[in-house]
Amino acid sequence: IAMTSKLHLGQLIRFRANPFHEGDEAAEHVTSGAILVVDGKIGDIGGADALRKRHPEAKVEDHGNGLILPGFVDAHAHYPQTAMIASWGKRLIDWLNTYTFPEESRFSDPSYAQKIAGRYLDLLLAHGTTTVCTYCTIHPASVDAIFEAAAVRGMRVFAGKTCMDRNAPDTLRDNAQSAYDDSKALLDRWHGRGRASYVITPRFSPTSTPEQLAALGTLWAEHPDCLMQTHLSEQTEEIAWVKGLYPEARDYLDTYEEHGLLGAGGLYGHAIHLEPRERDRLREVGAALVHCPTSNTFIGSGLFDMDGLMADGHRIGLATDTGGGSSFSMLRTMAAAYEVAQLRGRALHPAELLWLATEGSARALRQDSIGRLEPGAEADFVVLDLASTPAIAQRSAVAETVWEALFPTIMMGDDRAIRETYVMGKPSKP
Ligand code: GUN
Ligand code: ZN
Repeated sequence: IAMTSKLHLGQLIRFRANPFHEGDEAAEHVTSGAILVVDGKIGDIGGADALRKRHPEAKVEDHGNGLILPGFVDAHAHYPQTAMIASWGKRLIDWLNTYTFPEESRFSDPSYAQKIAGRYLDLLLAHGTTTVCTYCTIHPASVDAIFEAAAVRGMRVFAGKTCMDRNAPDTLRDNAQSAYDDSKALLDRWHGRGRASYVITPRFSPTSTPEQLAALGTLWAEHPDCLMQTHLSEQTEEIAWVKGLYPEARDYLDTYEEHGLLGAGGLYGHAIHLEPRERDRLREVGAALVHCPTSNTFIGSGLFDMDGLMADGHRIGLATDTGGGSSFSMLRTMAAAYEVAQLRGRALHPAELLWLATEGSARALRQDSIGRLEPGAEADFVVLDLASTPAIAQRSAVAETVWEALFPTIMMGDDRAIRETYVMGKPSKP
């Protein structure tokens, strides 16, 4: 059988280890590099000359000084908030009630869900993001819409029906039984179909009754290979609210733990204001924490303890949290992670930022076939232009290292810096 193989030439950065633990030595930069794509996967990687010799049959696409990186992985987002991103002036609870819930109510119309799902994934691809883990709305059709749109584009997408049975408008409430039944039906329909993964999705403890949390805990126990996503300790007002709603709980995390919603496949968005017990338990079970820096500054939530949590051995991903987050771009998100860390007293290295946006988020999603440029991985990758605007170009022109050349694009880049996004080896721009 003839296999289609293509050699992409450009600069490369790949990781041997986590740069938070091993420093920038964990990254390798190849100035004149290449990746071989065979039937949607990476078949080989290394120096351009060596790969041309090893694979003389392959067609060659030369990206010049473009930087080839894994497609970005956004570990926490709300695609239904696409059309209300950048809404002014509120903190979390008012922001949900004023902007988010009315917009999410519009998803009772499946054609609106389809329209936004397609728009959202096209925005992601334009920004170099090839995988997202997204919340939907309470409407099952909102889940069908995103997985169908992802299948059309060939994307590996994680998504789940957002479950809420209290403290939300009538139009956005299910109940414990229907949340279980609808989630189970969607899981059966989508999980493992093509590149789709179903994620069990209780929005957060304030919008679920203990009965609903328990029902979803049961569903997770029945499908332990599924991920589970929720929010944890994002704002102090929210934590006080949780204390009032769950007076017996030891802390916020305990509201999940008590109902079977703490585990290795758990993704806990924000995780800013954590108690020592919560940190210990999250680490013991190997759960993933998801840093959402543009959201945490935009909604005024707080400063995630990246260094402390990383040093303790937590699994950490990076995410936009669109539309609490103020961007679709993982470049902008890396910039915000840098700024938040600066406010905590440490400058994250570009290697650390890049690792978080690719392999770190992939690991949070328990994936090793994405987020990395390695033989056997799926060929989801981007080609970055390190001189995409006059402001960036004049800065990267005088850079002496690849990190100095990349950092202006991290700090100032947007979709103009994404020359091309490839999904399973195919360019996403027709
Ligand atoms: N907590 C519960 N729901 C949400 C949401 O939609 N966005 C953010 N940022 N936090 C939440
Ligand atoms: Zn969120």
